[in-house]
Order: sequence, then C-alpha cells, then structure tokens
Amino acid sequence: MPTLYEQLGGEPAVQELTERFYRKMLADDRVSDFFDDIDMDRQLAKQKAFLTMVTGGPNHYTGKDMRTAHAHLLQRGLNDSHVDVVVHYLGETLEELGAPAEAVATVRAAANSLRDDVLGRR
Ligand code: HEM
Repeated sequence: MPTLYEQLGGEPAVQELTERFYRKMLADDRVSDFFDDIDMDRQLAKQKAFLTMVTGGPNHYTGKDMRTAHAHLLQRGLNDSHVDVVVHYLGETLEELGAPAEAVATVRAAANSLRDDVLGRR
C-alpha cells in the first residue's frame, strides 16, 4: 500500500501543498492576523515537516506538539471557526492539486482529529 504521502506525489507535492495553503491563509482576514509576527519561512518548513509526518512521509517532525504550539494563540481568541478555516483550505488545496478524494478525506480527518489539542481542550 502506498502511503498517503506517496499518493499525493511525494516531496514536491507536499511543498506545493504547504505553499498554496499558506497563501490562502494569509489572504483570508478571518485568520491572517494570527500570522502577523510569525517568520513564515520557518513556519512553512515546520508545516511541511508536519504534513509529511501525518501523511506517512520520510521526514521527522521536530516541532512543538499542537497544544504547546497554539497555547498563546488561545489568548488572542483562537477558536473552532479558525480551525474550520484551516481544515477547509487544506482540503481545497489538495483538491486543486488533484489529490484523490479519499486522500482529501483522510487529511481533513487528520486535521480535525487535532482540533481539541490545538484548542487546548485535552
Ligand atoms: C488542525 C489544525 C492545525 C494544525 C495541524 C496546525 C499545525 C501547526 C504546526 C505544525 C505548527 C508549528 C509548531 C512549532 O512551532 O513547532 C503550528 C504553529 C502555528 N499555528 Fe497552527 N495548526 C493548526 C491550526 C491553526 C490555526 C487554526 C491557526 C490560526 C488561525 C494556527 C496558527 C498557528 C501559528 C500562528 C503558529 C506559529 C506559532 C509560533 O511560532 O509562535 N494554527 N501550527
């Protein structure tokens, strides 16, 4: 069975996915403010490593766990509506890149399964 990472098209596809996803996030004023003071090159690299990991690719994510990474954003009002935007753009970007519907559903579900961690609820 090919991993989801392989199904998507490996490293170049995950690079493209990550870049397109952040372009959408930064262009959307429902979420863009959260990234105002963030080094986006660093963020892109971390997000790419993370997406590689959750899709079964070869890299090893060394970033923070989701609860720690987002704790300070809760004070700035981070909530379910923002996670909805993330899940939406991840799915939409995968569709644009021609990912199989099953792969899109899997990544959406993976992102949704992190919702409570990101929002500090467990
Ligand atoms: C399932 C949902 C999400 C996932 C999987 C995710 C994933 C990540 C990852 C992997 C990092 C890097 C952690 C590190 O610094 O080591 C990160 C950081 C960050 N995320 Fe998320 N994230 C999600 C939801 C959100 C949402 C909804 C927002 C805001 C709209 C957001 C804003 C940020 C910001 C601003 C940082 C940088 C924090 C910092 O460096 O101080 N994330 N996220």
